[in-house]
Amino acid sequence: MRVLVLNGPNLGRLGRRQPEIYGTTTHAELAERCVAWGTELGLEVEVRQTNHEGVMVDWLNEAADERTPVVLNAAAWTHYSYAVLDACAQLEAPLVEVHISDPRQRPEEFRHHSVVTAYAVEVVAGHGVDGYRMALEVLARG
Ligand code: DQA
Repeated sequence: MRVLVLNGPNLGRLGRRQPEIYGTTTHAELAERCVAWGTELGLEVEVRQTNHEGVMVDWLNEAADERTPVVLNAAAWTHYSYAVLDACAQLEAPLVEVHISDPRQRPEEFRHHSVVTAYAVEVVAGHGVDGYRMALEVLARG
């Protein structure tokens, strides 16, 4: 089964971005691990990252058209993007929401709400980059 792992804004700087919150694993390393975890789980994983909301909407629309399961870290869009919400609402295969930190435990009020959660079969948050493995496991279990 093919799976798209889609990462939103600022996640391209993982490893250098606020490592005290997001850790020291780079996005390239995360992508490699996701592909390897996918192979272990019998999944064909493709990892993408964008800082551009329209590109993310296009990828989610592609996943809807192709009925591809998605692991989504919408990053800051999680908290306010109705375009991402509308795109998630159209998905036909399961969607797992993932966050490296646990936004609900963070001090900024704006992080406490997610527009993605209503469309997700599961939310994995606060487990660092290992959360992506947990999210892939959810999809592999079906
Ligand atoms: C994040 C949490 C969001 O609040 C934040 O805007 C991010 C990353 C996470 O993975 O912990 O960019 O989604």
